[in-house]
Amino acid sequence: MNEIIKTQKLCKTFSNGGVQQHVLRNIDLSIYEGDFTVIMGASGAGKSTLLYALSGMDKPTLGEVTFAGKNITKGTPDDLAVFRRKNCGFVFQQTYLVDSMSVLDNVLAAALLIEKNKKTAGAKAREVLKSVDIDENLWNKFPTQLSGGEAQRVGIARALINEPKLVFADEPTGALNSTTGKDVLDVLTKANDNGQSIVMVTHDITSARRGNRILYVKDGEIAGECDLGKYVSGDKERHLKLRDFLGGMGW
Ligand SMILES: Nc1ncnc2c1ncn2[C@@H]1O[C@H](COP(=O)(O)OP(=O)(O)OP(=O)(O)O)[C@@H](O)[C@H]1O
Ligand SMILES: [Mg+2]
Repeated sequence: MNEIIKTQKLCKTFSNGGVQQHVLRNIDLSIYEGDFTVIMGASGAGKSTLLYALSGMDKPTLGEVTFAGKNITKGTPDDLAVFRRKNCGFVFQQTYLVDSMSVLDNVLAAALLIEKNKKTAGAKAREVLKSVDIDENLWNKFPTQLSGGEAQRVGIARALINEPKLVFADEPTGALNSTTGKDVLDVLTKANDNGQSIVMVTHDITSARRGNRILYVKDGEIAGECDLGKYVSGDKERHLKLRDFLGGMGW
């Protein structure tokens, strides 16, 4: 399996009121192409901090992160912003859609950052919206007129539009109920089935089951990992394996 990200002795330390908090300690981790990697751990364990370091959104205190062959711990903020735009998609609990723009324009604006031909970008935007099951009758609506689940699927469309090497998702279903959350997870699973690599942080075992590789963050380290194999709906054995693993981690 091809490594897409590799970290070496990744450390992140925050200074809170003069007190040093070592959130990530010497993490050596590889993320593989095609995987649906899930990061779990207690609140405050450093999951989001790890995600930001892996994606180059934040610089580590020490150590290195290589992403698609590029050392993303070096380079100017502008350099890194261009790199992320080309290689990473982001999905958060909040969608950060632009309220004054239609659904289609939100996705189109992201496409136009890379694809300068308006016609091609428009075709791509419509195609990706269909792929996340956003019907045409929603395309001219504004984000505030959508349900939470619909808005999140538009957010995922925006994250996928430039065919990033990897999509980072930080609690993408955190603000949703279980039904709309399932639709969002289905969209991520489908993207992964089509070869899209994903790294997702979640608190929730139902969401975590979508991954094939589960990492558990504790005391600033990857305390353990579980190889679940590919997601199959309703597979009880996978569910039990994940539950046992999390139990062993003290979850
Ligand atoms: N910019 C910051 N400045 C200072 N401390 C921070 C900063 N960002 C995070 N921390 C601290 O680092 C620790 C890990 O935070 P992080 O957000 O990564 O946790 P998390 O595992 O994502 O938690 P949650 O599940 O609640 O989202 C927390 O104790 C947090 O207070
Ligand atoms: Mg977090």
